[in-house]
Amino acid sequence: MPRVNQICCIGAGYVGGPTCAVIALKCPHIRVTIVDLNQARIDAWNSPDFSLPIYEPGLEDVVRKARGRNLFFSTDVDKGIRDADLIFVSVNTPTKKSGVGAGFAADLNYVELATRRIAATATSSKIVVEKSTVPCRTAESMRTILDANSKPNARFDILSNPEFLAEGTAIDDLFAPDRVLIGSLQTQEGKEACAALSEVYQNWVPKERILTVGLWSSELSKLAANAMLAQRISSINALSAICEATGANIAEVAHSIGQDSRIGPKFLRASVGFGGSCFQKDILNLVYLSESLNLKEVAEYWKQVVTMNEYQKRRFSKRVVDTLFNTITGKRIAVLGFAFKADTGDTRESAAITLIRDFQQERALVNIYDPQVESNQIWADLNEASPDVPLAAIQRQVFICSSALEACKNAEAVIIATEWAEFKTIDWEAVYAGMNKPAFVFDGRLLVDADRLRSIGFKVTVIGRGERL
Ligand code: NAD
Ligand code: UDX
Repeated sequence: MPRVNQICCIGAGYVGGPTCAVIALKCPHIRVTIVDLNQARIDAWNSPDFSLPIYEPGLEDVVRKARGRNLFFSTDVDKGIRDADLIFVSVNTPTKKSGVGAGFAADLNYVELATRRIAATATSSKIVVEKSTVPCRTAESMRTILDANSKPNARFDILSNPEFLAEGTAIDDLFAPDRVLIGSLQTQEGKEACAALSEVYQNWVPKERILTVGLWSSELSKLAANAMLAQRISSINALSAICEATGANIAEVAHSIGQDSRIGPKFLRASVGFGGSCFQKDILNLVYLSESLNLKEVAEYWKQVVTMNEYQKRRFSKRVVDTLFNTITGKRIAVLGFAFKADTGDTRESAAITLIRDFQQERALVNIYDPQVESNQIWADLNEASPDVPLAAIQRQVFICSSALEACKNAEAVIIATEWAEFKTIDWEAVYAGMNKPAFVFDGRLLVDADRLRSIGFKVTVIGRGERL
């Protein structure tokens, strides 16, 4: 069995960075180099004051312990490839924006470029690991590229090892994963490569949590896991609409059904809609895969999960307008939270972006506060969401604030878009005193104590709670 002494990870993003930093921490005998073409990103990973390019609780501590010991960040992709026994491909696989499959299929251009680079550079045999989320049978395309372009003496074993971490809890997830999944060809070489990667994880993951399966099952399991998780949220959000219309309470419904051990209590929190870089992209990818396999009904089934999510966001912004006497033109709306979930600075597909775009279109004035998201990221996202509106015009309507209290000043309504813990403990009396009356709160995250806010004087609307009691 090949032994892994040197690892290279291509892609220093939300997955490659934390994953391989944890491998380095847990395997001091393995030299881990994370490479990326993006110089600014690598500089941030190497910054002397640890101003890392992503915010993730616990990550800085891991990097502080391992960086310079057996963890390195570099833009020298070729050296990283040449030196490694095992290479993780952890590049982005966004939804295609143009061409065949646009809007659904995964854009595999970055995976292909990384694979071609490995073939062109490697002078010895390597284990190549798909860490990126990819469509089923991508490993086959990688093999064709590697075989057609490799140098003599360089042979490649391809593994699939999808990542299941969630942002905001990435370090905890990596320290104690529910499972590590490794897919390989069921040949002698494939099994040996699988055993070599498994040995790396066994430095801290119990063996029974390391699942070894066929390559295609592994690739599909990643899409399937995200589709099933997102489907739970769309299901609970669909029920939240029924709750609002009937007077049932979605928190009580979720608790009641979650007590059934077959259903379980997790991932049943109604919300303004799921966001993040994975769920929508991976479901659309599954829809595309199903369509290309002529499985029309299967494609339609999964597509509905995304449709429901769009409906949930639209429904929420409409409820705000309806409640504010059918118009928010010229009214100031405070949006608390811009990240797609708490404990991350990531805004990809954040529901807040859609809500704010809707408020802009209603000609409201919008104040935004988020404890982690940088201003330039907010402007970039809002600009992309309204391509026909010049940024200067957006900036006359939208304001970025440095505290929740400042954002709520002179507002008619407060929208809780992200479940940051600090929004629970803000001085709601002071918020109320600074707002125009009647002062409205719309809790899109089931975060605050609605009864307490009502006792202060707020008019509170909660997702999945009807007005009828
Ligand atoms: P990301 O955009 O944060 O990082 C990808 C990095 O790869 C970028 O820094 C980019 O510059 C770099 N890159 C692209 N092509 C390159 C090349 N040819 N050579 C060197 N560097 C290159 O993306 P991410 O969020 O880390 O996601 C990576 C993959 O992991 C995706 O397939 C995603 O679906 C999957 N995934 C993401 C998460 C998540 O929570 N973000 C969780 C599980 C799986
Ligand atoms: C997800 C998967 O959980 C993870 O396993 C995979 O590797 C990557 O995609 P992530 O997108 O980082 O992780 O976060 P997650 O916690 O899954 O939340 C995704 C979205 O769903 C967020 O917008 C979150 O607020 C929302 N959500 C989550 C709900 O609305 N309700 C819930 O009950 C749970």
